Order: sequence, then C-alpha cells, then structure tokens
Amino acid sequence: MRHERQIELLRRLEAANPSLDSEPWPQAEACVRFPASTYVDPVRFEAEKQILFRQGPVLLGFSCQIREPGSYLVADLGGVPVIAIRQRDGSLKAFVNICRHRGATLAPCNGKVAASLTCPYHGWTFGLDGTLKVRPGAENAFDVPKEDMPLLPIAVAEKHGLIFGRAEGTGPVDVDQALAGAESELADYNLGNYHHFETRETEWALNWKLILDTFLESYHIRTLHRTSIWPEYLANTAIFDAFGPHPRNIGLLRSVLGELEKPEAERNLMPHATTQYILVPSGLITYQRNHIQHWRVSPLGVGRTRVATSIYTAEPAETDKARAYWTKNLDILLGVTGREDFPLMEQIHANLASGAMPEVVFGKLEPGLIHFHTAVARAIGLPEGA
Ligand code: FES
Ligand SMILES: [Fe+2]
Repeated sequence: MRHERQIELLRRLEAANPSLDSEPWPQAEACVRFPASTYVDPVRFEAEKQILFRQGPVLLGFSCQIREPGSYLVADLGGVPVIAIRQRDGSLKAFVNICRHRGATLAPCNGKVAASLTCPYHGWTFGLDGTLKVRPGAENAFDVPKEDMPLLPIAVAEKHGLIFGRAEGTGPVDVDQALAGAESELADYNLGNYHHFETRETEWALNWKLILDTFLESYHIRTLHRTSIWPEYLANTAIFDAFGPHPRNIGLLRSVLGELEKPEAERNLMPHATTQYILVPSGLITYQRNHIQHWRVSPLGVGRTRVATSIYTAEPAETDKARAYWTKNLDILLGVTGREDFPLMEQIHANLASGAMPEVVFGKLEPGLIHFHTAVARAIGLPEGA
C-alpha cells in the first residue's frame, strides 16, 4: 500500500483515539439486523449460487500459481466445475472441467501437464486449448466429429496478477470492473511477482458467508482468540473501507500504537496490520507483513462450504529452512481458524438453522459485516436488511 495512503489511514486511526481494547471504534452509523434466513434459507442460497457464483465474475486464483504452459487450477463456481489452463503463448483459457464423452471430471485438482489433459474414465484426450485430440481405441465408434466436441469454454480474464472466471454468460470478464475501485491498491502489491507456496483445502458445515464473516470484524479477538492472537492484536479497533461491494478490513497489531508516537511522515501502517480485501463473493486476499494469503470460498450447499487457503511469498521457498518456515506459518493460520473460528461458525449455522433464533445483529463496530451482507442482499435483489 502506498505510503501516503498508510499515513492517511493512520491519521484516521489517531483521530479515533484507540485505547487498546476498552473503547470500540463505531465506524457504522447504526447497528443492523439481518434475519437468520440470510444464512440458512435454501431458496436464498440458490439465488446467491446462481447470481453471484455462476453469473458473476469470481476470483479463481493468482496468475503466478499457473505461470508455466500446461499448468492449471480448478475451481467450483456455484456447482460448475471449471479449469483455467496456461497456454503455450502465455495466454489463459478456461473451460467447464467436464469430459465431453460422458461427463467425468477431467482434472480433480490443480496440476500441470505437458501438452494435454486425459480423462480418467475412457482416456479421451484434450489439448491445452480444449480441442479433442484422441478417443483411444474407439475413433470409429463415434459418429460425432472430434472438432464438434471441444471442452466447453467459459469467460476468463487476468489482470493485476488475479484470475477471474465466470461459469455462465457469453460476454468477457472485465477485471477492473469486478474489482470496483480496489484495482489500483491491489495492483500495487505486484501479485504477479509472488510465488505460490502451498494450497490446502478444508470443508465446513456452514453457510459460505460465515467463513467470510470471520475476517470482517476484530471484535471477537478479545474473547474467542484470547489465548492465541489477542496478546498481539487490538480488538474493537480495525480500519474499515469498501470498494463497491468489496469490504477492506485492516486488523491491527498492538504495535501500531507505537507508530502513532512518531512524526506523521515517518509512520508506516503495513508492518502493524493484517490487510484483508474481501472480494465478493468468493475471495479473501490478505496481506500480512511478509506474505499474501488467498482464501477461496466455494459453497457446496446452503450449509456446506469448501475453503481453499493458499500462501504466496515474495521470494520462492527454495531451502528446507524456508519451506519449514512457511509450512509452520500455514499450520498456525489453519490452526487458529480451524480450531477457534470455523468450529464456532459451524455452531452458529446450526443454531440459526434450528429456527429458534430469528435474527442476528451487527453492531456499529462491525461495519464490514454490515457492508458485506448489504452488498450480497442487494446483488440478489433483496431489499436492504432482508
Ligand atoms: S467420460 Fe471421459 S472419456 Fe469417457
Ligand atoms: Fe477470528
């Protein structure tokens, strides 16, 4: 983040007069209630799946994850399996990740091939550009010409080191439009120069929005994370802004208070911050001191969600020491969220699904939650707060 922007954000923080954890910083004008159905209504979930995850552009991943020709990443866009593949000329194509013969999944997980993808069922083989090359042992058994059976293309675009895809619709994806004003700040991170370290997937019995809720307020740090991260982080005080529908929530280390003691021109925010861009609907990009995380959320059902967590580093992890360091970093990250945040969110989902609790309330110190849920409701055509 540019230095002048950091100084401006620290000025706002200073004006709010953060006093460790005693006083909340109310950045929303009023608290807002959302009905429990926000999370548990299957009809609403179908609308979100269709409008946000199938028809809308979704962040698939980072360009640097698939630098080499033949490298590919897979994703689920509202139930549609897709695959984005780096071409020989460096461009990117994306397809429905389903074999044109009888519907098997072509590539079950991220990977790299030399020149073609082969279906695990009967061996049909497709080029990187999606053309059907070979129907082994059965060329004469199909009256349909091979050129009529390429992989089904989907719209894909990459810019600022980010890859966006869309499962439905024929028009191109406009990355800057999808980023809705966040593009210049995200471009400054030079994400294309980062190096993919590792991606791990987990699945949770909860609505997809509860995963993102986890990252949208710092209020819970003092209680839920009392023994893990609270000693290091400020609770009640996070810096909230938004770009179109996308909230940006900056969590703050306690060390930021020392920064406020310095003359303004010498201050830096980034070493004391966890800067989180929630890209509606599926993505969370977090910049944290020496690395970047990408969390991709894939709703599998109204109460079932897959989460892929990736770590990207500024330098490639080429030594055992570096690999051990980043593995431990990912272990800690998934340990805190996997033991403390997401099990609690599963509990919330079950409680709201019981029907015994009519609504949730977001306070004035939870502006990210208010913004996010208002944006999602608006996108699927619901009146505010519905
Ligand atoms: S389903 Fe892929 S080759 Fe038969
Ligand atoms: Fe948390």
